[in-house]
Amino acid sequence: GKPIIPYEEIGAERLSQLVDAFYARVAQHPKLQPIFPDDLTETARKQKQFLTQYLGGPNIYSEEHGHPRLRARHHPFPITPDRAQAWLECMSEAMDEVELSGKFRETFYNRLVLTAHHMVNEQDSEE
Ligand code: HEM
Repeated sequence: GKPIIPYEEIGAERLSQLVDAFYARVAQHPKLQPIFPDDLTETARKQKQFLTQYLGGPNIYSEEHGHPRLRARHHPFPITPDRAQAWLECMSEAMDEVELSGKFRETFYNRLVLTAHHMVNEQDSEE
């Protein structure tokens, strides 16, 4: 079949709904809420831009913010394996909410797992 750009498969509107559903969960999550700003409007706006290009759409994140350098941009925040797991759980639930399924969801989610693990910059504290 003809090659499909993942961004075109999900579409701008569904991607926007996914990101909103995701940050609604982040805002409530006890392990994530403390490291995020109270107002997630700008965070969500940047994430929509980023995921647009991550999925092969126009490079609107880089046009406004420069090279993503995602790991470096996360450096100010303590990202433990626990928090990476929490981030992925919020994303998985957001995917359920907007009814992403099948091969598309599986491939997208698996990429996010790798990216999330790459962001880890601190170990869980032993308590
Ligand atoms: C920004 C946490 C994984 C993409 C941020 C911010 C925090 C954060 C606290 C700053 C929010 C702000 O100041 O507005 C985390 C945690 C993760 C994680 C705990 C767990 C592994 C990811 C992943 C991606 C991602 C997997 C991409 C797929 C972004 C983007 C920004 C961001 C694009 C905005 C960067 C900018 O300021 O331009 N993240 N993040 N993050 N995160 Fe993550």
